Amino acid sequence: MAGTKKLIGPFRQVVSMTGLSLKGAISDTELTVISDAGILITDGNVNAIGKFSRLLNNFKETDTEIVHLEGDHVCLPGLVDAHTHICYGGSRAKDYALRNSGKTYLEIAKAGGGIWDTVTQTRKATKDKLAEHTVNLAKRHLKNGTTTLEVKSGYGLSIDEELKMLYAIKEANEILPVDLIPTCLAAHMLPKDYKGSEEDYLAEIGNLLFPKLREEDLTHRIDAFIEENAFSAEQIGPYFKKAREMGFDITVHADQFSTGGSKVAIQFDALSADHLEASTQKEIGLLAKSNVIATALPGASLGLGCNFTPARKILDAGGALAIASDHNPGSAPMGDLLTQAALLGAFEKLSHAEVLAGITFRAAAALNLSDRGLLAKGYLADLVIFRTSDYSEILYHQGNLKPCMVWKNGELIFDRQKD
Ligand code: NIG
Ligand code: FE
Repeated sequence: MAGTKKLIGPFRQVVSMTGLSLKGAISDTELTVISDAGILITDGNVNAIGKFSRLLNNFKETDTEIVHLEGDHVCLPGLVDAHTHICYGGSRAKDYALRNSGKTYLEIAKAGGGIWDTVTQTRKATKDKLAEHTVNLAKRHLKNGTTTLEVKSGYGLSIDEELKMLYAIKEANEILPVDLIPTCLAAHMLPKDYKGSEEDYLAEIGNLLFPKLREEDLTHRIDAFIEENAFSAEQIGPYFKKAREMGFDITVHADQFSTGGSKVAIQFDALSADHLEASTQKEIGLLAKSNVIATALPGASLGLGCNFTPARKILDAGGALAIASDHNPGSAPMGDLLTQAALLGAFEKLSHAEVLAGITFRAAAALNLSDRGLLAKGYLADLVIFRTSDYSEILYHQGNLKPCMVWKNGELIFDRQKD
């Protein structure tokens, strides 16, 4: 509503994530922690953050709604999950069991499981069913504090089926209070029923699907999986060139099992290169010199039982590190960003500031969103609130300290007490 004002507080701490660099290492002493704070919200945006008592004195006689919090609360910017695949049909529990009995992700894919299995299940689902499933999974994310979620297509793998997925994501976005950011991942793998080469398939998608995405305003982001069993760097070159010429933003599934993808991400000035579990010092150095955000996906490492993205090395080389859940039915079924980010921090020796940056403003940058990911005047009033007296408790509990409240655009969208 136009002109609505709210004052929320007092918070023991507001960690605003302001004044921090987009790239490189960050120490916890660099965090701005505002104690005994209140947040004044106007029309869904942060208007002011300061001492609660002062803000209360200034605004209590006005038409400002006062949301008075009892007990200890710590507030962070709403979390941003910059990489998910939560629009899908079916389950891949069988793949998980097979992997844990010794088969590799690539072996399972070659034997007919893997991504193709989910494509088959997704094609069987109606658009409305897919939208409903996406809504249900996104609700789980929002209860864990995520207020912006990227969602990829990539389990349709034909013009019509990719469109069905992107319409389902659009429908889900209209239902949900959180923001879904759609991405077209038609270049996830060569569909097994396609009669032609990888090059033919990519040309068809570029020529026939890209214009539709524009016309129907379904997404402005194009992703590709560069890997053995998916697409090579050479095959993706012309595809990304076309996407760039048409004004799409680029993101890449890069260096997951073998290197090559991160170089393409840099060449095409991608917003992000995601995965990077296989990146060596050479790729890390090149990424750090570029503007590409390196997105670690600890959920995929946990789901596949493999090594984490070399996050410490990326930060020490001066790179920008985001952390995302990669929530998908195959490699990353858990879908709990805060838990995964906390575990990555423990294994990779990341400061709290680096982990929190990776799931707030650095993740927002990976989505090219400059209106969120930190709390300052003019930014979206997307808030995640925990019942604790110190922010360091949040990652210490490794995701087990759940948010008590989540606010989106200045509205309360989740209250654990009422759930
Ligand atoms: O990011 N690596 C490729 N794509 C997804 C997995 C998709 C799947 O296994 O269904 C990922 O891990
Ligand atoms: Fe992924």
